[in-house]
Amino acid sequence: MPITALVGAQWGDEGKGKIIDVLTEEADMVVRYQGGNNAGHTVKIGDETHILHLVPSGVFRPQTVCVIGNGVVVDPLALLKEMADIQSRGVTLKNRLFVSDRAHVVFPYHRALDETRETQATDIQKIGTTKRGIGPCYGDKVSRVGLRIADLVDPGFRAIARRRIEEANRILEALGAEPFDSDRMIEDYTRAARQIAPYVTDSVALINRAAKEGRSILFEGAQGAMLDIDFGTYPYVTSSNGTAGGVCTGAGIAPHRIDRVIGVVKAYTTRVGQGPFPTELTDEVGKLLGREGQEFGATTGRPRRCGWFDAVVARYAAMINGVDFWAITKLDVLDSLATIRIGVAYECDGETRDTIPANIRMLERCRPVYEEVEGWQTSTGNATRYEDLPERAKAYVNRLCELTGVKMGLLSVGPRRESTLRLAV
Ligand code: GDP
Ligand code: IMO
Ligand code: MG
Repeated sequence: MPITALVGAQWGDEGKGKIIDVLTEEADMVVRYQGGNNAGHTVKIGDETHILHLVPSGVFRPQTVCVIGNGVVVDPLALLKEMADIQSRGVTLKNRLFVSDRAHVVFPYHRALDETRETQATDIQKIGTTKRGIGPCYGDKVSRVGLRIADLVDPGFRAIARRRIEEANRILEALGAEPFDSDRMIEDYTRAARQIAPYVTDSVALINRAAKEGRSILFEGAQGAMLDIDFGTYPYVTSSNGTAGGVCTGAGIAPHRIDRVIGVVKAYTTRVGQGPFPTELTDEVGKLLGREGQEFGATTGRPRRCGWFDAVVARYAAMINGVDFWAITKLDVLDSLATIRIGVAYECDGETRDTIPANIRMLERCRPVYEEVEGWQTSTGNATRYEDLPERAKAYVNRLCELTGVKMGLLSVGPRRESTLRLAV
């Protein structure tokens, strides 16, 4: 398999975990390059459901090396818990899982700051974060006061951490939040450091060596284009670049090394947390999509907001990521609908537009222009070949490709590995 970047093309939860697990059959290495344990990637194998937050979704294929890249923010206690869960299912991680020494560490004060900001924000300021400390940790990284995995496993960690915690406590106290017991935190993190140390490596060298040797590498994006810090619906976004450019900075690989980009899109749209969502449905159809698609956050359990497929969003995601192929997921969720709508443009302040305005207040005023197509009202969940799908289902996915100018590579009609129709990928 060529070196591939796989990215979410909507607001996250497109089914990236499932597609990564399918494609990993042919990959030597899977690399996460951004985000942290705000991500929740679901992999269903047989009757078992696994939800991954930091560990790449390729972990259930024994031949694959999994790397947590430098662009990821790592909560060491959350990582150890996830590793223990995976190992308890009989999966070996020794010499298979690697954590970048350049990745930044999430501390409890990041979580406390995240929580405090969300609680103290007025309704309009709330982002609806996962409260995993992601924003404050990336904030420290950019402010050059963060601590990295290399610091965590350094013998001088206690002294470095103490200075940092004292500063963080002053900020928390100024915000009226509880300060932290630095001794306890340092003890917990020192213990975690000892357990993580055997997995820590120079990931940049590891990944580039693999690329040079011609190995197949799959870069696993978290979140989605509309949650990207630069291209998403700012400020209702996450704090990293989940788009394809993030692969270079978050893994240390040169742009020309990436052979192709696969974008994952749901056959409709969902979003968790606050922020504009032009094709959102608050009616019975929205509820049906939530029910049929089991749309509850894999990390926080929050119900996901649901709506029609938004071709403006998908076209934009295709452009900024350079998507070569779509992996279209959850087609089966639309099976019972008599008619289906596709958002093809926006009406905004008396104008029709086919791009997303940067001004968030303007985006909030955008109303979708819909195209309506007939549903197929037949079950697609058991299809194993594209040819077996009802004509109207084929027409629907082809229309999504036509409107977005991207070919279809994979089509997913159920959560399991077997429910994947491979076309061009
Ligand atoms: P990710 O964050 O992009 O990896 O996506 P999540 O795991 O958060 O959410 C996707 C959900 O949809 C998970 O519960 C998957 O098991 C499920 N899923 C993935 N593909 C399909 C599909 O084609 N059909 C159905 N019905 N469910 C799917
Ligand atoms: P995966 O990888 C869906 C959303 C949160 C919130 C915003 C900021 O599973 O697709 P953060 O905690 O990152 O500061 O929250 O981003 N969010 C996600 N929504 N899927 C995700 O990841 C998400 N990760 C963050 O709900 O709106
Ligand atoms: Mg998810």
